[in-house]
Amino acid sequence: MVTPLLTTTLDATRSAVAAARARGQRVGFVPTMGALHAGHLSLIRRARAECGFVVVSIFVNPTQFGPHEDLARYPRPFEKDLAACTAEAVDLIFNPTAEVVYPPFFKTFVEVTGLQNVLCGATRPGHFRGVATVVLKLFNIVQPDVAYFGQKDAQQARILIQMVRDLHLSVEMVLCPIVREADGLALSSRNVYLSTEQRQQAPVLFQCLRMIQERIAAGDRLTEPLVQLARARIWETPGARLDYAAIVDFERLEPIDVLSGKVLIALAVFFGATRLIDNILVDVSPA
Ligand code: PAJ
Repeated sequence: MVTPLLTTTLDATRSAVAAARARGQRVGFVPTMGALHAGHLSLIRRARAECGFVVVSIFVNPTQFGPHEDLARYPRPFEKDLAACTAEAVDLIFNPTAEVVYPPFFKTFVEVTGLQNVLCGATRPGHFRGVATVVLKLFNIVQPDVAYFGQKDAQQARILIQMVRDLHLSVEMVLCPIVREADGLALSSRNVYLSTEQRQQAPVLFQCLRMIQERIAAGDRLTEPLVQLARARIWETPGARLDYAAIVDFERLEPIDVLSGKVLIALAVFFGATRLIDNILVDVSPA
């Protein structure tokens, strides 16, 4: 197995990617914050299958963390991540420091208005501004042909697709399905924070989503009773505290009363200080 090329600077990254492009290779990009798990690896595998040159960035982006969030304790198992990328035949890992990405006197941010302050954005002010800003920077550094994102962070993906559209970026955006544990819990780098009891309760998010999905399959079209179902189920789960349960139109991320078209059913639940999210996307035909 060949160890991926490791870069930390803009110049080294750009010249490695330029060389790949000069060889006629399609450049696929998977942005991550590291602590790689099978969810990340599914994105990398898809990139590997579709592209001649695969770039993974590992960067815990400070601007997307709130002042009381887990930036300092976010897991950074670099050697393990390197081994995982080697096993997946990644070509290049871009692992910059915060100073490289945000030089002194940095002044410019990207905001995707309207989509950034709802759902997760309501609880995490500034989060999606940080995400959009860093992803645009990473796109400008790596200059990929195609970038891979997980549906796990559906609002993030929706916002980034809008950014690409609005700013006329020429990167193709690919949305990949959520990878789950056997009991339904969506894989997340933050799952390691859960205590044994919290871990046992955590599949409740997916159970709520499944319950709603079954009701939709059975013909339910009014959203409010479905949202109530999820609220009640989280309420009765020991250790769980609901942040939000929402059924929104996936294009606008606005609540809808009656289900139709492409709909996002999304949940965010706290277990202690750990906030878990999960969602399903459904295409609802009229009842
Ligand atoms: P991170 O949380 O490391 O996730 C990197 C990518 O992996 C994201 O596109 C995310 O949606 C995807 N992912 C995470 N868990 C997944 C799962 N269980 N199944 C499928 N895909 C999954 O998202 C970020 O980093 C950052 O916000 C980033 C985009 C890198 C900007 O800093």
